[in-house]
Amino acid sequence: MPTALPRGVLVAFEGIDGSGKSTQATLLADWATQRGLDVVRTREPTNGPFGRKVRESKVSGRLSPDEELRCFLEDRKEHVATLIAPALARGALVVIDRYYYSTAAYQGARGHDPAALLAQNRAFAPRPDVVFLLDVDPRDGVTRVTARGGGADAFETLPALTRARDIFLSLDEPHVVKLDARQPPEALHASVLFHLLRGPLRDSASQLGLDALPDEASLPVR
Ligand code: TYD
Repeated sequence: MPTALPRGVLVAFEGIDGSGKSTQATLLADWATQRGLDVVRTREPTNGPFGRKVRESKVSGRLSPDEELRCFLEDRKEHVATLIAPALARGALVVIDRYYYSTAAYQGARGHDPAALLAQNRAFAPRPDVVFLLDVDPRDGVTRVTARGGGADAFETLPALTRARDIFLSLDEPHVVKLDARQPPEALHASVLFHLLRGPLRDSASQLGLDALPDEASLPVR
């Protein structure tokens, strides 16, 4: 039986395409699962009807900015109601690959007001305990996406990704941790653990099988 935390913890990984979010979300989820925590690893857009619609629009031609925004919001409402909120309520660690900051950045890049988008999302979506923003130069991001075979149907152009990155970088909230995504995955993972073990997982060190809080140099903790 996985162990519940004293209260649910929501960790979001954000960044432009090719920033390495999925790798970091997986490393964190695996680390916590190995330590016996109840972990829910998830992503947006989801595989629900609205999430599928925006993904298909990548190939079939894009939706209008308004329709695209509506789909991302509907997808998230369903995700929160059916998965995220129940998991947090039972004390799980929820690790999400993209969340409403992606809406602020990408739909912001398509002309909506980022501050209004954040407010609209916060009306129904729980605020993450920590957001790891993996920052990468859009040109490097596109190179990484192309290298894994995703270049042909890349959703975003370089100027749009540059606007999205600028919006991500303009987020100025204490729970948003900006990390240089050029670092090797293991180094980024160490930073992620360092922040969590000094932040929302601070009181759970013994539950995680750690005698003491490690310093950053000794992470990742194996
Ligand atoms: P996908 O290929 O599913 O994911 P990823 O790029 O994370 O591997 O594509 C998701 C695309 O959707 C990505 O280009 C960012 C975009 N997006 C938004 O525009 N708004 C949002 O709210 C979310 C969650 C994603």
